[in-house]
Amino acid sequence: MTRHKVILVAGARPNFMKVAPVMRALDEYNRTRRGKTRPLDYLLVHTGQHYDASMSQIFFEDLGLPAPDIHLGVGSGTHAEQTGKVLIEFEKVCLREKPDLVVVVGDVNSTLACALAATKLAIPVAHVEAGLRSFDRSMPEEINRILTDQISDYLFTTCRDADRNLVREGIPKRKIHFVGNVMVDSLLSHIHLAAKSDILERLGLKDQETPEKYAVVTLHRPSNVDDRKALKGILRALGRIGRKIPVVFPAHPRTAKHIEEFGLKTKASGEGLRIVAPLSYLDFLCLMSKAVLVLTDSGGIQEETTILGIPCLTLRENTERPITIRKGTNVLVGSDPKRIVAAAYRALEKGIRRKKPPRYWDGMAAERIVRVLAKME
Ligand code: UD1
Repeated sequence: MTRHKVILVAGARPNFMKVAPVMRALDEYNRTRRGKTRPLDYLLVHTGQHYDASMSQIFFEDLGLPAPDIHLGVGSGTHAEQTGKVLIEFEKVCLREKPDLVVVVGDVNSTLACALAATKLAIPVAHVEAGLRSFDRSMPEEINRILTDQISDYLFTTCRDADRNLVREGIPKRKIHFVGNVMVDSLLSHIHLAAKSDILERLGLKDQETPEKYAVVTLHRPSNVDDRKALKGILRALGRIGRKIPVVFPAHPRTAKHIEEFGLKTKASGEGLRIVAPLSYLDFLCLMSKAVLVLTDSGGIQEETTILGIPCLTLRENTERPITIRKGTNVLVGSDPKRIVAAAYRALEKGIRRKKPPRYWDGMAAERIVRVLAKME
């Protein structure tokens, strides 16, 4: 029987926890498949968009991922440079390996570049996490999402909103598969391991058995961290919240660089505000799961806090994940310092009501994806 060859692509930090469950589900399928179903062999390609050990390697270790089969080593650059380098290098991989399918995840530059290289060679593309829309085209990720979806053959969605967005953009229904959230697959399969992390002790947030109440912050969106005025205002707000409870801020390299360049280091080291280096997957999951409040501009963290039931304030004016507001604990607060502080005080006093998790955010999304791929011609 002929075998199918699949290339899975990961490039940046939020990709690793999305490909891991798909790889595991493919292993399981290959191990247990019977009868006429074809084996789905796969290769993992790392584009190298993220390259610091703390942004990449450590995630492979925490998620139990094997080293990538192929590493493109593209690194940082402008959007055109980064996207262009991935496009050129990934095309060579496709020509050499001749895969039957390329699977891309999320919305980073590597996602679009690999989807484009593959589709121009008439290789079918599957997009995991398709259909999310912020309707804000100033976000580079929004452009990546729209274009990747237009050229994909299998569109795997996390929610029905996404299905509707795709239909509105003219994608035929037969290509759309509502499978749930692979990020939640990773969260649910690692939360018990994460609970064993000693990150609270290492950050001095736990005195023997009594954990302190604290908030966690992550920020990396260009609109929040590339502009001095915006970043300064947010840091001032975090400093104010830090007077109530300790605020731990594992800073993305881009954010750390700008805090330094904009001369905001003193603003970022108030009494209750602590900037630390990026954390590993398990340390961050542990820290987040025990926090009383999360402030973020990340997409994935809006979803993770929805499942963990932790109040989440999103420092953006819009979200491509509105389901986390309707069904989760997420509140949009923008980047105005007064609004951030007021929302944080409110959440700390009243909490945010936890609701039922969204449908199919149940740890089995990757299995549903593989069930669809197994029927591939
Ligand atoms: C990228 C994604 C974003 C995702 C984020 C998660 C795009 C357009 N953006 O943003 O959607 O939410 O990853 O982190 O693809 N840098 C390092 N070390 C690294 C990686 C980056 O120092 O390992 C620094 C470099 O100065 C680089 C900057 O961070 O120029 C930005 O990196 P880049 O990959 O361009 O975008 P992110 O901001 O990480």
